[in-house]
Amino acid sequence: MVNRLGRSEGIQIINVVRRDAQVDLLKAQGADIVLNSSEAGLERELNDACHRNNTHLAFDSVAGQLTGQLLKAMPPNSRLTVFSAFSKEAIQGSPGPMIFESKTIDGFWLGPYISKQSVLKTMQLWKRAQRQISSHLKSEMRKTYLLPEVREAIRDYRDQMTGGKILLRMS
Ligand SMILES: NC(=O)c1ccc[n+]([C@@H]2O[C@H](COP(=O)([O-])OP(=O)(O)OC[C@H]3O[C@@H](n4cnc5c(N)ncnc54)[C@H](OP(=O)(O)O)[C@@H]3O)[C@@H](O)[C@H]2O)c1
Repeated sequence: MVNRLGRSEGIQIINVVRRDAQVDLLKAQGADIVLNSSEAGLERELNDACHRNNTHLAFDSVAGQLTGQLLKAMPPNSRLTVFSAFSKEAIQGSPGPMIFESKTIDGFWLGPYISKQSVLKTMQLWKRAQRQISSHLKSEMRKTYLLPEVREAIRDYRDQMTGGKILLRMS
C-alpha cells in the first residue's frame, strides 16, 4: 500500500522486511528498494539507501532495536513515526541522533488523530480514502471468519501475517 502511494506521489520508498520471501514479494510488485532486517549489513545498507535518497521520514511498526537503527541511518533533521510495535520490545537506540542531529521520534494512533480533525477535514480524508480504496489503498483479503470463530481467526492471523487480511464477520 505504501509503495503504491509512494509511486503515485513520486516518493521513493525504502522497504524493510524480515524474510527473503517478502523481499521477492515486494520486488515482484514493483518496489525498487527492499532490505531484509534479518541479514547482516542492514545498518550499512539502510544508511546508504537513506543518504542516497535523502530520506527524512520513516514509519515504524516494529519498534525495539529497529527504531534505533532507522533513526541512526537517516540524515540529520529526520522524523521517525512509530505506529505499532510488532517486536513487543521497548524502543532501543542511542540518544545521540536526537541530541546532535535534531532527529525526532513520535507516535501515531489513527483514532485520536481523526477525532481531533474538523468535520470538513474528516470528510475530505474519508472521500480520498474511498476514491483510492480499490487502487492505491487496496488490501488483499485472505479469509473471512464468523464472530464465534474469533480465536481461530486471531491464531490464523498470528501464524501468517503476510499475504492478505483476515476479516471478522459480525453477523
Ligand atoms: N497506529 C495506528 O493508528 C494504526 C492504524 C492501523 C494499524 N495499525 C497497526 O499497524 C500494524 C501494521 O498493520 P498492517 O495492516 O500493515 O499489518 P499486516 O497487514 O497484518 O502485516 C503485518 C506485517 O508485519 C510483519 N511483521 C510482523 N511482526 C514483525 C516483526 N516482529 N518484525 C518485522 N516484521 C514483522 C509481518 O511479516 P511476517 O509475515 O514475517 O510475520 C507482516 O508482513 C498492526 O500492528 C496494526 O495494528 C496501527
